[in-house]
Amino acid sequence: MTDKTSLAAGTFAGARARIQDNASRGLWSSRWVFFLAATGSAVGLGNIWKFPYVTGQNGGAFVLVYLACILLIGIPLLMTEVMIGRRGRANPDGAVARLAREAGASSRWRVVGWLGGLTGFLILSFYLVVAGWALAYVPATFSGGFAGVSGEASGELFGALLADPLRLVVCATLVLAATMLIVGFGVRGGLERSLRFLMPGLFVLMLVLVVYAAIEGEFAQALQFLFVPDFSALTAQSVLVALGHAFFTLSLGCGAMMVYGSYLPEGTSIAKTSILVALADTAVALLAGLAIFPLVFANGLEPGAGPGLIFVTLPIAFGQMPLGQIVGGLFFIMLVIAALTSAISLSEPSIAWLTERFRISRTKAVLGSGLVLWLLSLGSVFSFNHWADYQLFGKTFFDTLDYLTTNWLMPLGGLGTVLFTGWVLQKQVVSEAIGIRSNGLFLAWWNLLRYGTPVAIVLVFLNLMGLI
Ligand code: TRP
Repeated sequence: MTDKTSLAAGTFAGARARIQDNASRGLWSSRWVFFLAATGSAVGLGNIWKFPYVTGQNGGAFVLVYLACILLIGIPLLMTEVMIGRRGRANPDGAVARLAREAGASSRWRVVGWLGGLTGFLILSFYLVVAGWALAYVPATFSGGFAGVSGEASGELFGALLADPLRLVVCATLVLAATMLIVGFGVRGGLERSLRFLMPGLFVLMLVLVVYAAIEGEFAQALQFLFVPDFSALTAQSVLVALGHAFFTLSLGCGAMMVYGSYLPEGTSIAKTSILVALADTAVALLAGLAIFPLVFANGLEPGAGPGLIFVTLPIAFGQMPLGQIVGGLFFIMLVIAALTSAISLSEPSIAWLTERFRISRTKAVLGSGLVLWLLSLGSVFSFNHWADYQLFGKTFFDTLDYLTTNWLMPLGGLGTVLFTGWVLQKQVVSEAIGIRSNGLFLAWWNLLRYGTPVAIVLVFLNLMGLI
């Protein structure tokens, strides 16, 4: 056989394998569903819980820097992940291995894939616990438990929740069960059906809350706080926080977007869809800011209160305002919904990996990983009570997982992904797969991917190691 025919045969076999994979794995039924799923993954605790508190801590110019990070690093990386998934048509580990093989590179690059799956799994184990706090606050708020509370009393109520392992375990378990039930039904059944109603519902609730905050809160002051940049408050550290948050909020560096991309039908523009997802994600974060800060200012609360911002300060606002019980209850329902659609995406890479690598049934994969996740989540739950004194380098189990995943594993996954795409895959293959028609735009993205993004991520690592 000449080189040419063997190449053609190889391509043919590849194409056939791909078609068979598609038939057995299932695809999103439309571009709109992919958009919903990816947006559902991106929008979560990161937007509603984390974005306001890091903005509150980092001051005025933070929002501007964060937007720049989304534009220059987040969107190019998002496009890359979706592209790898769609072209590889497998779980992140399998997709990267297949593309590496096609490019004649070492299949060791698959470490990018499975490390991502592992990272997502670890994030999920504590993400469930925070989502559980939100769930615990739903009945607490609806029942009027926060009526007229002072800052101190609200802090005590949050402290009482953290000190009650049983309540925490029950709530985290409910979130885990809901996630696994949805994921267990598979891509077509579970994810699509739930996302169709979860995402639009979330947007409606969000808008209601912003309108309420605009009428009842200090809207003008919130606008100024969010959008009038105050560069004097900007530090190197806050630039890095903005970059890390851009990763987290767009669900990057964990293979989540790769696995969603692997269910994307051919012919959809990856570039356009990714930009829409990033826009929707940013819109929700800004809406969350617009809903929360008017209430914070109207009640004389502290914007820089830290991770407890919504769980400690918002109930004070909800406890004071008219109809606060209902608005607050709706707010926490919304947070649980947002967390659930993200949790689904955090678990999907490892579930897809288990079913495809070890050929076990989806049900078994869900039950097995559900059990491991539940055990891991107990570690996070006990970090706030029984095990609060067991610390490694001054961090509890929960803090360690959070630190390890957000600061190390996610950027590492992102770095691996951009290096693999920009330096291992052939430019022409990437260009075909990504489908950016304009040559100028493609080159801008390609160069950002090869140089800009890796340099930015390495700067984060250097900063973490205390070298800059
Ligand atoms: N982006 C989600 C949020 O903002 C969290 C999330 C979902 C995530 N999937 C992810 C974070 C994958 C990192 C990687 O809450």
